[in-house]
Amino acid sequence: MKAYVKTFGCQMNEHDSERMRGMLLKAGYTLAFDEKEADFILINTCSIRQKAEQKAFSYLGRLGICKEKRPGLRIGVCGCIAQREGRRIVRRAPHVDLIFGTKNVHRLPRLIEKMWKAQNRVIEIYDDDSARWQQFGCEIDRDKQVSAWVTIMQGCDNYCTYCVVPYVRGGEWSRPPEEIITEISDLAGRGYKEITLLGHNVNSYGRGLSQDFDFPRLIRSVDKIAGIERIRFTTSHPKDFSEELVEAIADCPKVCEHIHLPFQSGSDKILRSMNRKYTVAEYLHKVKMLRAKIPEAVVTSDVIVGFPGEDDDDFQQTLQVVESVQFEGLFTFLYSVRPQAAAGNFPQQIPNNIKQKRFETLLEIQNRITSERNMALLGTQQEVLVEEAVEKGEEESGREVLLRGRTRLNKVVAFTGSADYIGKLRRVEINKANRFDLEGAIIP
Ligand code: SAH
Ligand code: SF4
Ligand code: F3S
Repeated sequence: MKAYVKTFGCQMNEHDSERMRGMLLKAGYTLAFDEKEADFILINTCSIRQKAEQKAFSYLGRLGICKEKRPGLRIGVCGCIAQREGRRIVRRAPHVDLIFGTKNVHRLPRLIEKMWKAQNRVIEIYDDDSARWQQFGCEIDRDKQVSAWVTIMQGCDNYCTYCVVPYVRGGEWSRPPEEIITEISDLAGRGYKEITLLGHNVNSYGRGLSQDFDFPRLIRSVDKIAGIERIRFTTSHPKDFSEELVEAIADCPKVCEHIHLPFQSGSDKILRSMNRKYTVAEYLHKVKMLRAKIPEAVVTSDVIVGFPGEDDDDFQQTLQVVESVQFEGLFTFLYSVRPQAAAGNFPQQIPNNIKQKRFETLLEIQNRITSERNMALLGTQQEVLVEEAVEKGEEESGREVLLRGRTRLNKVVAFTGSADYIGKLRRVEINKANRFDLEGAIIP
């Protein structure tokens, strides 16, 4: 039997898919190269914006056509749409055989077994969060061989008024530190060089744990694990981004100086209405504090345009933040109404044409900044962790190939070198700056 897992959404979803592939392998499946050769296709969905949902449903629709031709094919839907919609998915996609949510991922092996036996489709959604810990400790089929994601916490209690995450991922919950350290030590033993600590809100790690163990303390502990060369983490919330954390980042040589710190809007009025719990001045102060302690640090961010009530002046203030901080990169989103999130009912929803226009203005400014920041790296030497050969299957020992890796500041760099460099740190001189990546030459 062959299974194929298709993933939409953020890194948490990508990592959940790694876990589910691990479970499928353990249950005796092989992994299909593509949809065509699969007996079972599992779609891990994202609900963050309307467009993300549309993408998943249109993919699901295409699978319906495949299934007409191949009635033996079985289709499962999981992830954030499944958690939210449950049985209602069947109305739009009657060809679905299995539906489960984000809180019972560990049940996949049992559910799939039931699916093959049942004449009817199988649906299981957990409403409460109590079983979440059970997904840890199972086999993980990791995407990469050099860099690994490690979940440190899940869920969110912040209830930003635009966001669906608390409804689809549940309340904030932290994994015990010993478990995290054991997982990372094991990864180091298997040759992994880079770890990304994952959570919806990593800065508030430790809340609710029986012992007193916060995020700065966690990164200090992870920094001591031999074999790991680089530590990253995502996502940070500005309200919990503390001086103590900046000190820990500065003290820990393995922690990379790149922080993803979403600011969402440059207007205090909009931030209040979003329930973000910080002001623009506080955000700017935190960036300043970071750069004062770690001058080489770079910041990337998320921003939403067209939130209800955003007028031209609010939008201009967002542009001012973008110009003054000079983000290394920016993820820009058009506000999208989410069914459970409060902002969907706010007055003064912004018409699409205005949203779109603001979006384009913002993008143009950030593209210029990103290009300028990349150009500034020309001629510099960067430490690159070599991740992979650009062309898959070219990793034969000793062969000269086009390689790809990342700098400490998370810039992608391509350069030619021996396939044996994969998994190693190399110094690379940057000789070309593109908008989204860099090219360079290895320093012998
Ligand atoms: N936990 C992270 C990010 C979660 S979602 C944080 O707190 O910042 C990733 C990004 O999607 C958010 O930062 C936000 O910019 C965007 N986003 C979330 N909900 C959205 C919505 N309804 N419409 C548009 N963008 C949204
Ligand atoms: Fe969503 Fe806000 Fe929680 Fe981030 S902090 S996941 S944006 S509710
Ligand atoms: Fe999407 Fe769920 Fe992540 S809604 S952004 S996949 S937590």
